[in-house]
Amino acid sequence: MSSPPSSATSSNDPKNEVDQSSSLLKIESRKIAGEYGRPFFGPIKDRLDYFYFQGREEFFRTRMLKYQSTVFRANMPPGPFISPNSKVIILLDAISFQVLFDLSKVDKKDVLDGTYLPSLSFTGGYRPCAYLDPSEPHHCKLKSLFFSILASRHHAFIPLFQSNLGSHLFDPLELHVISNKGTANFNNLSDNFCFDFAFRLFFNKSPSETIMGSNGLKIVTKWLLFQVAPVLSLGSSNKLLNFFEDLIFHTFPLPWFPVKSGYNKLYKAIHSSSSPILDEAERMGIDRDETCHNLVFMAIFNAYGGMKAWFPSLIKWVGLAGPELHQQLVNEIRAIVKAEGVTPSSLEKMTLTKSVVYEALRMEPAIPYQYARAKRDFVIESHENAVFQVKEGEMLFGYQPFATKDPRVFERAEEFLATRFVGDGEKLLKYVYWSNGRETENPTVENKQCPAKDLVVLLSRLMLTEFFLRYDTFTVEVGSLPLGSSVTVTSLTKASNDVK
Ligand code: HEM
Repeated sequence: MSSPPSSATSSNDPKNEVDQSSSLLKIESRKIAGEYGRPFFGPIKDRLDYFYFQGREEFFRTRMLKYQSTVFRANMPPGPFISPNSKVIILLDAISFQVLFDLSKVDKKDVLDGTYLPSLSFTGGYRPCAYLDPSEPHHCKLKSLFFSILASRHHAFIPLFQSNLGSHLFDPLELHVISNKGTANFNNLSDNFCFDFAFRLFFNKSPSETIMGSNGLKIVTKWLLFQVAPVLSLGSSNKLLNFFEDLIFHTFPLPWFPVKSGYNKLYKAIHSSSSPILDEAERMGIDRDETCHNLVFMAIFNAYGGMKAWFPSLIKWVGLAGPELHQQLVNEIRAIVKAEGVTPSSLEKMTLTKSVVYEALRMEPAIPYQYARAKRDFVIESHENAVFQVKEGEMLFGYQPFATKDPRVFERAEEFLATRFVGDGEKLLKYVYWSNGRETENPTVENKQCPAKDLVVLLSRLMLTEFFLRYDTFTVEVGSLPLGSSVTVTSLTKASNDVK
């Protein structure tokens, strides 16, 4: 048995080692360690460990050390009575994780939320694109539709994001922190900003101008929560609250009826703003009703949900890095913007800004869980030159923050290094997996990679660019949330020389 992950250098490429190793190194065939425990009790014990007795990171770390392996068996929440089967094989290193992208070996049908599928009442009775395996014909049609929507909005990305940033994020941030000499909850402002931006981008109007009025954010928050509650914990330290949370969130599926009227309003708001998209989908052979429920899921669950979790994490890592990095970002961003303005090509030239975005995506991928089911018997390779036999039908689960902080791939893997992906460091981008694929690959209708991969990277660079055009430095206090991080901005210094 080999030891758990230890030292490494950034020039190491474990995958190449494994590829070339058949003749050079002995690949060890190992039985997958770990246990599921007794039926019913095993999954509940693992669920309580995961949410309450150990916590997520400890849950994985203690088992990785106990089994001396980054590949092992355990149950994943929620378990009884929501998951029909909670047994999974956990993958925690950068090499074994990649099997989740290999669609010749794995099936991605109905695994978005893991070991359970929320009631389809939440999605109009349809399985939206994100629940479909690429072998299902509707996956290709729907994802093509999303690519075409994104392409048609291409020219709006930068100006819309800039104007919304000013009105929905930076103006209120300044009001709280500078004018009122207080602090600002970045997540609340960012939620409002992301919701308005996503709605305007796809449906050409603010959600407040629709039938939802000012209740849009409440409606979508409830709709999201009711679907993902089985895998969330509010993180209270009160045992009584934990008991009730476990009973309400993790034991039985939450009912549809409390969400129904809000969802119907959301559906109507999107339907009334999407006639050209619905026409195009009909021409492609997708029913208008199915398309509209898919638009709700794409714009709110995928796009808003992803941005809601991601932007606070980006600001957290940049904030924690401190004034020295802020000054370097200011210098790079203002010099390039002064010469070329803010364009896709000027953003591409900001090497430090780009690296900072990738490093934050590596440290804290917004969607940390990825699941897939083995289509057939095959072997998984880990970063230890060990192979593990997997049987057809077994569920694989990758916890991404461990895979993208694999010390055999990344030097000082636990540290935020702003220049990690500058120059030669770009070679390591193939181990950045936030989009459900390698950062060096592209989403297609045949894979499950996020179709907005390039857009998210562009908007993240733009967020930092606009921020450091307007401010010199800032400080934050951070905490953790059921999904992502909480960020409070505690000070903000306006730019001493405004280049815009
Ligand atoms: C920061 C923002 C975002 C993050 C972090 C993010 C992340 C992801 C991830 C991790 C997946 C794979 C889920 C899985 O199968 O495990 C995914 C899929 C998807 N994302 Fe994104 N995403 C973001 C923004 C967007 C946006 C703006 C759109 C709008 C088009 C979008 C549309 C989708 C769709 C439709 C899928 C399903 C792809 C498929 O089934 O092949 N996402 N996203």
